[in-house]
Amino acid sequence: MIRFEIIGTGGYVPKKILTNADLEKMVDTSDEWITTRTGIKERHIAREDEATSDMVIKAAEEAINEAKIDREEIDIVIVATVTPDTAFPSASCWVQKGLGIKNIPVFDISAACTGFLYGLIIGGSLIQAGTARTVLVAGSETLTKITDWKDRGTCVLFGDGAGAAILRKTERDAGLLGYTWHADGSLGHLLSLPAGGSRLPASETTVKEGLHFLKMQGNEVFKYAVRYMGESAVNAIKKAGITSEDIKLFIPHQANIRIIQSTCERAGIPMEKTYITIDRYGNMSAATIPVSFRDALREKLIKRDDIVLFSAFGAGFTWASLVLKY
Ligand SMILES: CC(C)(COP(=O)(O)OP(=O)(O)OC[C@H]1O[C@@H](n2cnc3c(N)ncnc32)[C@H](O)[C@@H]1OP(=O)(O)O)[C@@H](O)C(=O)NCCC(=O)NCCS
Repeated sequence: MIRFEIIGTGGYVPKKILTNADLEKMVDTSDEWITTRTGIKERHIAREDEATSDMVIKAAEEAINEAKIDREEIDIVIVATVTPDTAFPSASCWVQKGLGIKNIPVFDISAACTGFLYGLIIGGSLIQAGTARTVLVAGSETLTKITDWKDRGTCVLFGDGAGAAILRKTERDAGLLGYTWHADGSLGHLLSLPAGGSRLPASETTVKEGLHFLKMQGNEVFKYAVRYMGESAVNAIKKAGITSEDIKLFIPHQANIRIIQSTCERAGIPMEKTYITIDRYGNMSAATIPVSFRDALREKLIKRDDIVLFSAFGAGFTWASLVLKY
């Protein structure tokens, strides 16, 4: 068990909403196709001048207020993102500046849609080890800034947002009862951002060829997501020493409603116990789980000592499932 308590959560999505009807005017698609194939109805889009760290700051301020702590009490900031404001400084450095907290270590995690779950494991472990008492873990993404708005296979899927949680050392019987986390880099080519790094630096050619946009072989990714989210959820439940009946709420990563349904079937969790936000947010990558968690708490679907299951899969590939005692 990794012992810690979540004392505050926050979430933020940009104001601008892009509906399926709006997308029908942009690419050859239909509300019917998007709804039945993915479950998405609308998504939020960051402003041109709005970056990943701006959204984290808003989510973090909500979490700090809820936790009723002074921001100076935060010992470490961890931001999970694959769309940082700049390659460097890290998004977490921009967040630290925005929050006005000095003299603490901060770092980013690049694990795509699984990033926030990696962050909970790392943040919780740092508390368990005595390295920190209070850790801010955030997941934030502006995937619409690396979306090819002419590619109907990807542009209908993503939305922007940020979520945050404040983890604190506790004597309570709370934290991660069990978890599994994985990666398989040999499958990375199925979902990637080809240009802009040291392999293929940005050039006139990369821009002309659209290599600065996210590329995905959707149906291949789908197969692995279904298999690995299901498998890891089952294993995390086993490691936690509980059964699926003990789970109060399942909050999965939300890339496709059909992936979620299949994960539920494999893990023996009814859809009624599964929290769905894909219709209103689309796939917000690392932000999906923390924003959904915040929303579920605000709806009072989870109370202290309830058991929550999280499961995610994303680029890398990376995947993880966590059983949290809240
Ligand atoms: C992307 C995804 C929704 C596509 O659904 P799919 O059922 O696999 O569809 P396919 O890619 O096989 O395409 C089926 C057909 O729909 C078409 N199509 C694709 N996008 C479309 C769209 N937005 N509107 C209408 N038609 C579309 C394809 O061109 C194809 O047409 P064809 O049969 O004439 O060639 C689905 O594969 C998916 O969700 N993948 C995983 C996403 C994911 O998990 N991503 C990241 C992990 S976080």
